[in-house]
Amino acid sequence: MPERPAGTVEDRAQEQGPGFVMRAVTRPEYGGPEVVTVEDVARPSPGPGEVLVRVGAAGLDRATLHLLTGLPLMARLAFGVRRPKRPVLGQQVAGVVEEVGPGVDGLAVGDRVCGTAAGSFAQYAVAKAGTLAPTPDGVEDRHAATIGVSGVTALAAVVEHARVQRGDRVLVLGASGAVGGYAVQLAAHLGADVTGVCSASKEDLVRAQGAHRTVDYASVRLPAMGGPFDVIIDIAGNNPVSALRRCLAPGGRLVIVGGEGGGRLLGGIERNLLATMAGWFTAKDLGWMFSSTTTARCAEVARLITEGAVTPVIDRTVDLDGAADAIAAMASGHLRGHAVLEMQ
Ligand SMILES: NC(=O)c1ccc[n+]([C@@H]2O[C@H](COP(=O)([O-])OP(=O)(O)OC[C@H]3O[C@@H](n4cnc5c(N)ncnc54)[C@H](OP(=O)(O)O)[C@@H]3O)[C@@H](O)[C@H]2O)c1
Repeated sequence: MPERPAGTVEDRAQEQGPGFVMRAVTRPEYGGPEVVTVEDVARPSPGPGEVLVRVGAAGLDRATLHLLTGLPLMARLAFGVRRPKRPVLGQQVAGVVEEVGPGVDGLAVGDRVCGTAAGSFAQYAVAKAGTLAPTPDGVEDRHAATIGVSGVTALAAVVEHARVQRGDRVLVLGASGAVGGYAVQLAAHLGADVTGVCSASKEDLVRAQGAHRTVDYASVRLPAMGGPFDVIIDIAGNNPVSALRRCLAPGGRLVIVGGEGGGRLLGGIERNLLATMAGWFTAKDLGWMFSSTTTARCAEVARLITEGAVTPVIDRTVDLDGAADAIAAMASGHLRGHAVLEMQ
């Protein structure tokens, strides 16, 4: 048998018992799905204000892709300049509290929880207690695993930033995606008249989520999408702020959430700054947002799922070994809804 170097995960497992080791989806360097591997790594321990979650399910989202590729480059200031600081991928999580760190109130071993935990594509992940909420009875882990980023971002965009009201004419750009699916359902639930923008092959999906009409972005330009709108939730497409502003009704609200393909260095974030500046010269509300995951927001999305107001759409569930293929499917736009990793 080949000799193992001292201090490997296997050595530490022999010293501390097999529970010390867990399987995880990692990437040692930035790259595409081809750099993704599944390996044994050390199980993390919760620090003050944290809990260890035994992961039941972990939802993929676009941030997974940014963490994998290290793009836009600006993001490497936070993720690690030359190589990723954290090898384990994943953020959205649903599972059961396994250990509680010092100073955590309101969570106990055995509680079902959902939200975010850095490195959630693993059997165990450490989460800040403030980014988790209880998973209600009747909500499956695979659904709860889409709340922490996708659900919370849509909630913040539609309810908190755009303040969507009954009767508002709402345009959702990127309606077929993970965030967009939640946004369409939320806006429709609030009584808005929703136009969803997506590719032609997913118009049926977006209508099924409550959009009153759909538009194929490949064949219809923004000015012909049926405006003016009271609200635009801009999740994809990277349309110029000036064009978005022209599609808003007087007093209308724009919320920029995201958009891929905006450039290697900044990823299109400069549109946010342009929106802020353009907003100084118009009565229209031109805004943007970065979502932050809180217990209250996770709990609210979970409540909406329990009520049947929104239902996460799951394209596929895979095990850890299927992570690379699921990430590739997301990158190439083949998902209809979410991909979710489920632990065995
Ligand atoms: N601000 C924040 O806090 C925050 C939080 C989460 C995510 N984000 C960002 O939000 C964006 C979407 O994330 P996601 O997880 O929902 O990604 P996703 O699931 O991949 O969805 C993106 C969707 O955009 C659609 N799309 C592509 N080109 C389009 C165009 N020209 N016009 C309209 N729709 C278009 C795609 O539709 P088809 O597949 O039908 O082509 C796809 O369904 C990403 O840029 C992400 O980084 C921001």
